[in-house]
Amino acid sequence: MRKGIILAGGTGTRLYPITQVVCKQLLPLYDKPMIYYPLCTLMQAGITDILVICTETDRPLFQSLLKNGHQWGINIEYTIQAKPEGIAQALILAEPFLANSPCALILGDNLFYGHHLQATLQAASNMTGASIFGYHVANPQAYGVIEFDQYNQVKSITEKPAIPKSNYAMPGLYFFDNNACQYAKKVLPSPRGELEIVDVITQYLNNNNLTVNILGRGTAWLDTGTPDAMAEATQYIAAIEKRQGLKISCPEEVAFSMGLIDQQQLTVLANQLIKSGYGQYLLSLLNKNFPDEMH
Ligand code: TTP
Repeated sequence: MRKGIILAGGTGTRLYPITQVVCKQLLPLYDKPMIYYPLCTLMQAGITDILVICTETDRPLFQSLLKNGHQWGINIEYTIQAKPEGIAQALILAEPFLANSPCALILGDNLFYGHHLQATLQAASNMTGASIFGYHVANPQAYGVIEFDQYNQVKSITEKPAIPKSNYAMPGLYFFDNNACQYAKKVLPSPRGELEIVDVITQYLNNNNLTVNILGRGTAWLDTGTPDAMAEATQYIAAIEKRQGLKISCPEEVAFSMGLIDQQQLTVLANQLIKSGYGQYLLSLLNKNFPDEMH
């Protein structure tokens, strides 16, 4: 069974002074904590065994928010990343938790939303080797950038290039087979002192074992590393939720729709939050019939 990892450490320096005392992934994105979004993405990919990697200081806060996950029909464990020494370090820290299972690694500040996202995630999860995504962005130099050849095959992936070879950035969601920990251990720190995830992915590419799934323009991928990015994500979520009357990345709803919790469990969760619109929303799901998909 594929397991999940949410990397929620880091220093959040681009959000100072906000993140001097509260870590980025616990800040609100409109009506819920930021980490709910990547958590729901993993759940929608069909993953129910999840490791949260965070700093030692933040661990009790994440634990008090997410608990052991059983309330949402999943299992959540925690591991500490003492220093933000790179995204690939998550794979090394997660090795005992993964116990040779394949995994999906998601960054704690990445938000995905869009049509057929659940099916796209599950299809990526069913592939062999490594499966990553490509997303057209206006500012590729801020991300890992995917270069394609004339046959649309991946040629290279470069972290934050000064002169990007395409507009396709690599979002912070990666599916790996059980070789990922071994590959991560072979990576040497980059000039900026980090174990780069690109260096893990390039090993899959060199072994002809990498799939890039293009997320089309009907899908939103947002990250939330700066005050503007956070404000834009908040406005996006608010606009969609108010228009549709449906919430984006509500773990209770995802758990209920995926059959991980039943009506009685959802009622208990809703009543704990009843004073907010969030609790009312959960109650409204109890007797609802969705002809199409819920997310
Ligand atoms: P970044 O946005 O690159 O780093 P950051 O969150 O520390 O922010 P800043 O650049 O403002 O200082 O990281 C992306 C995500 O990955 C974010 O959720 C933090 C997480 N991360 C870790 O948890 N550990 C790490 O070693 C790195 C590099 C990132």
